[in-house]
Amino acid sequence: MCGIYGYIKASSEKKALETCLDGLQKLQYRGYDSAGVAAIHNGSILSFKTVGKVDLLTSLVKESPKELSAAIAHTRWATHGRVSSANTHPQIDYKESLALVHNGIIENYLEVKKRLESKGVTFSSETDTEVCANLISYYYDGDMLSALTRAFADINGSFAIVLMHKDFPETIYASARGCPLAIGICEISGDVYISSDSSSFSESSYSTYFLQDNEIAKVDGKTLTIYDDQAKEKKISLSPLTITENETLKDGYEHFMLKEIHEQKGLIERILHKRKKQNSFYYRELEDDKDLLNQVQHIEIIACGSSYHAGLIAKEFLEQETRIPVSVHLGSQYRYAKHLDKANTLAIIISQSGETADTLAALESRKEHFLLTIALCNVENSTLTRKADRFIPLMAKKEVSVCSTKAFTAQLLNLYLLGIHLANALGASCEKFTKELLSLPLCIESVYSKEKEIASFAKEYSSFPYFFFVGRGQMYPVCLEAALKLKEISYLPAEALPAGEMKHGPIALIDEKLATIAFLTKGEIAAKTISNLSEIRARNGRILTFGGNNHEVTKDQITFETDSLETFLTIPYSIAGQIFSYYLAKELDREIDFPRNLAKSVTVE
Ligand code: AGP
Repeated sequence: MCGIYGYIKASSEKKALETCLDGLQKLQYRGYDSAGVAAIHNGSILSFKTVGKVDLLTSLVKESPKELSAAIAHTRWATHGRVSSANTHPQIDYKESLALVHNGIIENYLEVKKRLESKGVTFSSETDTEVCANLISYYYDGDMLSALTRAFADINGSFAIVLMHKDFPETIYASARGCPLAIGICEISGDVYISSDSSSFSESSYSTYFLQDNEIAKVDGKTLTIYDDQAKEKKISLSPLTITENETLKDGYEHFMLKEIHEQKGLIERILHKRKKQNSFYYRELEDDKDLLNQVQHIEIIACGSSYHAGLIAKEFLEQETRIPVSVHLGSQYRYAKHLDKANTLAIIISQSGETADTLAALESRKEHFLLTIALCNVENSTLTRKADRFIPLMAKKEVSVCSTKAFTAQLLNLYLLGIHLANALGASCEKFTKELLSLPLCIESVYSKEKEIASFAKEYSSFPYFFFVGRGQMYPVCLEAALKLKEISYLPAEALPAGEMKHGPIALIDEKLATIAFLTKGEIAAKTISNLSEIRARNGRILTFGGNNHEVTKDQITFETDSLETFLTIPYSIAGQIFSYYLAKELDREIDFPRNLAKSVTVE
C-alpha cells in the first residue's frame, strides 16, 4: 500500500519534480511514512527524500534544476524495513545507475539478496525494493527490457514498479504484477502520467492503459510501448478517462473525516433517489441478471475492515428477505480457508478502494466457483471493478480520510437495497421497507443535531484508557465498526462485545477505569442490554448509552429521533459512533485524517 508515480513532460510547461509532488499529495491515502522523488540530471541520479509526509519534500525540491522533463516519486507505507531515510524510495542501485519506486511485497527478497551479496552486490537499506533495483541493475548490460524480464522471472510476490536509468534520462520503465498501475497520456499536452491510482493524474482528459500482470511499459516522450514478459511488443487499446479536480477541499471543516461524516445525509438521499423504482428499489446494473439471480442458492460476502462490518450488519436482513443463506468472510481468511463447493453462489465483494489485496486475492481464489460476482465499490476503474462481473458504485465521491465513514454507510445502505432488489427478483415484495428507508435522512439529521452533546461526552470520556462497545442483535456488528473507528484514530484499545457475552469472561475487566459505550435499540433487546449494563454499573464501570429511553443505568445518555426506524437503526447509530470517535480523537490531538501506521488502501496481503 504505497503510492508510486512517474511523469514525462511532452509539451506542457510543467516541472517534472513538482508535478510528481502534486501526484504524491493525492496518493498519500496509500501511505505517508516517508516520501521521495528522483530524476536523471547531467548523467547522474538526482533524488530528494524525507521521512514523514510529502509536504516536507516541497522545500527540498525547490532548489532542483528546472529543465528536468521526467521524474519518478513514491509515498511509503512501511512493510519491509523501518521508517527511515535509507528505506525511503526511490531506491538507488549499487552501481548508482538507476532509481526505482515500488508498491507491493517481494516475498523471496532475502533469498535473492543473499544470492546478489554472494556476487559482491552491496546494499544500503532493509527494503525488498532495493533488492529489486539491484537485481535489475545486476542483469543490466545496456538492454533494459532483457534486464527487467530476467529480474522479474527471479522474484515472487506482488509489485508495481517505476524506474529511470541514467542511460535514458527521458525514459521511464514500469511493470506490475498483482498491484495497480495506470498510465495516462494527456490528450492536450501529450504529457505522460504513471500512477498507482489514475485519479491522482492532473485535471485533464487522458488516453489510459491499466498495466496487466507481468507487462512492461516503456515511456519516452509521448510514446508508450507495452511488452509482454518475454519482451515482445503487444498491441494495446487505450481507454478515455477524464480527471476533474477531486474532492481535496475540506470546505471549512477541520478534518476530512468530519466533512465526510456530514456528507452522509446527502449521500443517503442520493442513493435512495437513484435506486428508487415505483414503490421499491432496483439496480439497473443487474437488469440482465434476473434469470441468474433466480438460481442463487447461497450468498457469500467478502471484504475487510469496515467493509466487512457492513456485510456483517446486513447479513440478517439479506437472509430474512431473500430466504437465501448468507455468509460473510474476511478477505484475508477466505483465500486460505478450505471451502465446501456450494452451487449457485452469488459473491458480493465490498471494497471502498477496490484495491485491497486481501479482498482481491479472495475473489481470485474462488472466482470460477461463483455464479455471479458483484462489486460494491467507490472507485471506478479500480482493480476490483475490472475483475468483478458487475460493479455497483457507492456514489460516495472521493473519501479522503483514511478512516472510512461515508463509504461504510453507503456500503451498508446498498446492501440493504440489494437485498430488496434480490427479494423482488425472487418474487417477494419489500415495499414495506420503503417508507422507513426514505425516513433515514431525517434520522441522520437528528443524529447531527446531537453532535455537540456527543462531542462533550467524547471529551469527558477521552481520559479513559480502555473501551467496551456493547450491543445486542444487529447492534453488535455496529459495535465492531464503532470500536474500529475509535482504535484507528484515537490509538486507544477498544473491544466490541455482544452485550450478553460480557458476563462470560470480559466482565473481569470492568472497573472504574473502563468505559462502556452501549448501543440500545428498542423493545426486549434493549431491556436485556440494559440489564447487562447494570452488571457493569454494579462494578463501577462508566457507561454512555446511545439510543433507548427511560433507563436508569446511567445519566450519560444520547438519544435521537428514530421513531420511524425499526430495521435500519444501524445507519444512524453508526454515524453517532463515528462522531463520538472523531471528537474523542480530536480531544487527544490525534492526526485524524492520516492516522499513524494506517493507509487508505491496503494493497499488500
Ligand atoms: C476503515 O476505517 C479502515 N480504513 C479499513 O478497515 C478499511 O475499511 C479496510 O482496509 C478495507 O478497505 P476497502 O474498503 O478499501 O477494501
